[in-house]
Amino acid sequence: MTKKMACNHRNLRCRTTQFLVLCTAVFTGVSAAGCFAVGQNTVNQIEFVNELAIPPLAVSRLDHSGRRVFALQAREGHKEFRPGVRTRTWGINGGHLGPTLRAARGETVIVNVLNQLDEATTMHWHGMHLPARMDGGPHQPIASGRTWSPTWTVDQPAATLWYHPHPHGSTARHVYRGLAGMFIIDDESSGSFGLPAEYGVNDIPVIVQDVAFDGDGQLDRRRRWFNQVGFLGDTILVNGTIAPYIEVVDDRIRLRLLNASTARVYDFGFSDDRPFLLVATDGGLLPAPYETTRTMLSPGERAEIVVTLDPSTRAVLRSYPPSLGSDFANNRFSGGSDSFDIVELRAATELRASPEVPTHLVEVPSVNSSEAVQIRRFDVTTRAINGQDMDMGRIDAVVDAGTVEIWEVTGISVPHNFHVHGVQFQVLDIDGSPPPPPLQGWKDTVYLMPDVTTRIIITFPDEADPKRPYMYHCHLLRHEDRGAMGQFVIVGPGSGAKR
Ligand code: C2O
Ligand code: CU
Repeated sequence: MTKKMACNHRNLRCRTTQFLVLCTAVFTGVSAAGCFAVGQNTVNQIEFVNELAIPPLAVSRLDHSGRRVFALQAREGHKEFRPGVRTRTWGINGGHLGPTLRAARGETVIVNVLNQLDEATTMHWHGMHLPARMDGGPHQPIASGRTWSPTWTVDQPAATLWYHPHPHGSTARHVYRGLAGMFIIDDESSGSFGLPAEYGVNDIPVIVQDVAFDGDGQLDRRRRWFNQVGFLGDTILVNGTIAPYIEVVDDRIRLRLLNASTARVYDFGFSDDRPFLLVATDGGLLPAPYETTRTMLSPGERAEIVVTLDPSTRAVLRSYPPSLGSDFANNRFSGGSDSFDIVELRAATELRASPEVPTHLVEVPSVNSSEAVQIRRFDVTTRAINGQDMDMGRIDAVVDAGTVEIWEVTGISVPHNFHVHGVQFQVLDIDGSPPPPPLQGWKDTVYLMPDVTTRIIITFPDEADPKRPYMYHCHLLRHEDRGAMGQFVIVGPGSGAKR
């Protein structure tokens, strides 16, 4: 076993080493390379011995009024991430993570969420257009032993969404222990692009989380020296699998990448730098596939990529050091110098031929900034937005139903991101420049380079509910839990609301 791997399993010593090396670097001016050498790095060090687990598709039934009914149970469980080591976890309908929910645009769904934990939780439908009372944010707690049954009609383009708890102050802990799952939306045109669409075969959920284990093999959530972003783990789980591989039987596969980590930013690419097609982001398909060798995801963000393989070859999905945009020391302690091997793709000796990916996908009509009726500013810090920490009893913004607003968002000093509930928005510009192609589709979460202003444009729901707020927040969950979150309500037109 190499020295680095040993380091991964001895967190305390590893942290001490990092600290000493940094101090040495600071006081003697040794080369930056010395500091980089102690970042997390599992490149070429993983033996991919476990077949990737595919979360089961949640079973559903249609009730007498034609609603699609799902049942989720949040509960304690355990899992052997490594053979013979029993780790206590939380899961939904199982020991760890949850099933994939799937519904089509136009369908009405109802999800019966039973909380079998010993404490209250919530279940939030991240990226979903739905009424605020169905959103599953901190205002919809589910007490221990109780069931909550939100229902809504799916009305948005095909997309990879997800669900996770959102109890104020405890979101990081609930998600880290394993409460998360994917929610795939289909629409009229999902089937018509020739994109790989066989779930778990050539259309594969890839839920990426970083964890750490303590000496007893239990999930550890301690923070490292100087780290301002939150927990950063040394071990990657994909769908809860350590060191996973995927047997590939098609010459093209779609990976639905979800960053369900609490703080880590990934910059995904392949070990041989092969190009792939980015076809969708948070809220659905892009106007056209974007050929690239990297796609960066901050916590909460999703990307759908299509990658081509030759028979009998292997390729490793890797996370390269993400360009977080912060200064060297910040970058180093925010995971900006870390690299991980994520999952190995193993192509069979013969592969089924897949259709070509079309050069155009969908129209993403751009929201016109001249329609905006309001501009708001948000400064995001590690524990507040606009200097105020989250207060469940305070409404921070009152928005007129169905109107368009521009939000100017700046993350202060260290990496942050920004997520808005109930909507999909568009990025207008970043530091005054138009967004690059990966940010030209529908988004619900966007990475914020430190001290750079990102302007987003949002069309708000036209259903008013002045009493029940939606959230906006940093999706680095420690920041969110500490107070980097605010609340907005939607009011009817002409209700004379204060801003
Ligand atoms: Cu993914 Cu407010 O949440
Ligand atoms: Cu933040």
